[in-house]
Amino acid sequence: MCGIVGFTGNSPAVPILIKGLYRLEYRGYDSAGVAAFTKEGLEVVKSRGRIANLEEKIKEIGGMNATCGIGHTRWATHGEPSDRNSHPHLGGRGKVAVVHNGIIENYMELRQQLEAHGYEFQSETDTETVAHLVDYLHDGSNHSLAMTVLKAVGMLRGSYALGVVSMDDPEEIVAARRDNPLVIGIGEGENMIASDVTAIISRTRKYIILDDGEVAVVRPDSVVVMNAFGDIVEKKIQEVTWDLSAAEKGGYEHFMIKEIMEQPAAVTNTIHPRVKDGKINFEDSGLTDERLKNAKHVHIIGCGSALHAGMVGRSVIESLCRVRSTASIASEFRYENPIIRPDDICIVISQSGETADTLAAMRLAKQAGAYTVAVVNVVSSTIAREADGVLYLWAGPEIAVATTKAYSAQLAALYLFAVKMANVRGTITEEQEKAYCETLYTIPEKISEMLAGKEKMQYLASRYANRSSVFFLGRGLDYAAAMEASLKLKEISYIHSEAYAAGELKHGTISLIEQGTLVVALATQPALYEKTISNIREVVSRGAEVILITGADFDCDASCCSHVIKLPEIRQEMSASLSIIPLQLLSYYVAVERNCDVDKPRNLAKSVTVE
Ligand code: G6P
Repeated sequence: MCGIVGFTGNSPAVPILIKGLYRLEYRGYDSAGVAAFTKEGLEVVKSRGRIANLEEKIKEIGGMNATCGIGHTRWATHGEPSDRNSHPHLGGRGKVAVVHNGIIENYMELRQQLEAHGYEFQSETDTETVAHLVDYLHDGSNHSLAMTVLKAVGMLRGSYALGVVSMDDPEEIVAARRDNPLVIGIGEGENMIASDVTAIISRTRKYIILDDGEVAVVRPDSVVVMNAFGDIVEKKIQEVTWDLSAAEKGGYEHFMIKEIMEQPAAVTNTIHPRVKDGKINFEDSGLTDERLKNAKHVHIIGCGSALHAGMVGRSVIESLCRVRSTASIASEFRYENPIIRPDDICIVISQSGETADTLAAMRLAKQAGAYTVAVVNVVSSTIAREADGVLYLWAGPEIAVATTKAYSAQLAALYLFAVKMANVRGTITEEQEKAYCETLYTIPEKISEMLAGKEKMQYLASRYANRSSVFFLGRGLDYAAAMEASLKLKEISYIHSEAYAAGELKHGTISLIEQGTLVVALATQPALYEKTISNIREVVSRGAEVILITGADFDCDASCCSHVIKLPEIRQEMSASLSIIPLQLLSYYVAVERNCDVDKPRNLAKSVTVE
């Protein structure tokens, strides 16, 4: 999704803005732009496509010499990706420039009113409305820019993170937010605004999180934050705990492969701090034994891979705890009038902690009285701050759009939850809890074992990279894992792929199987081996080639499969942590083979902050 960066200080602002935009690239974008105060006045340069195009344009005009400015990467919502629709947008007579992340729902209404006042629109965006609105309210008034922005945002419906600058004061940036993230980087004689800390970390580790409804006035030597009433509020200064190197490729060709290789460490970081002497401790999450005992339903919500982790978690929670659990797509859950009771627990899964649909679904569950627990990676993100309790993943920054290490860490957090809840509810004994904890401790080294087999996946990728369609099959937990494997492949390699419950394929979709179709089958649950093998035979006899991922104790005849990959021994409830590894590698190498933009796949965004 769109990325915002702003800088005010004494150093050249534009290179800092460009660097910040590069750091925000991972969020997904299709155009970029900057506005800065140069000797020409408020100068704007923007371009469709990659940031490199923008840099080229800036070079063509002989650079932009400025110490204050704002920058933006746009992920199109209103109007196609084009130079014209890119941000920043100028207001009225070119005195005000605005960058925006989010959606202004009443922009048409406002646009008509502004047009009636003589404003001419250059773009199809909702953002330009904000620029003209600020200009309109500011023009001739003796209010500060911040008070004008405060008034303007009061007239907006929808969501926004905004960066606004005005010719009135070429050292000042005004920032505002509602339902879209914005941080303020606190430096020495310079300050920044940004969508997330990755864009400020090369200048400062100190930051403030802007809350909904707040407006900040950012100048080189001061930051003042006001609430919706215009009263000054004290903000806590936080510090980034991870190192800059964590947000760099460190010798790897892509962030995705770096993050795949980091999975043993990510999973260790999720599990270790919470297990002591064979017991799981959830003190940090506010999940008391009483809550775990009284819950009649565990709702799990998320989008994309987070939902897929939730599907695995749902199944493990039901089978270990014997409590009803459902995994729901956040954007569906919101509108299906879900039955939520006060004793229910709602696990909200999100790597970024900012996904708009997940956040809205969480608010709904919270309002209905459920205890909300966020399983989140990004510290102090909106979902983490609004949930009743948080289980942080501690997986470190994830930059590649396609999640890998956060997904693995989410699985680990859900296993911890399931085992803890099962013990509290008496469906497993203390000894069993201890035994489960021992297994959890072995997951990182077993993931490492799977990673050591990466050459084989590279070979299989080179062999199958030219396929136009791939099917993933599995039953039970393997079906949930197949969903994630299929998503990984399609999102980065653009190969059409579908995940099917193995027994369901024959009810229609099997008609798509033809000579040479690649089918990836997962069979890691001993009780289901034979069933899945029968389904594999059904596709093989129609011409499919099969890669089988199976458990260490697999005892069926797999001679019909073209390739068999065996997992190290692991409790069957936790097999998804291992079965996904070769399939992440397969997707990665297929995408590389097809020359795809692995870390920034087309049309996708890392953090989806619009509904
Ligand atoms: C986007 C990403 C997916 C991700 C999903 C949920 O669609 O492209 O890879 O799984 O958002 O993101 P979250 O940050 O909530 O886990």
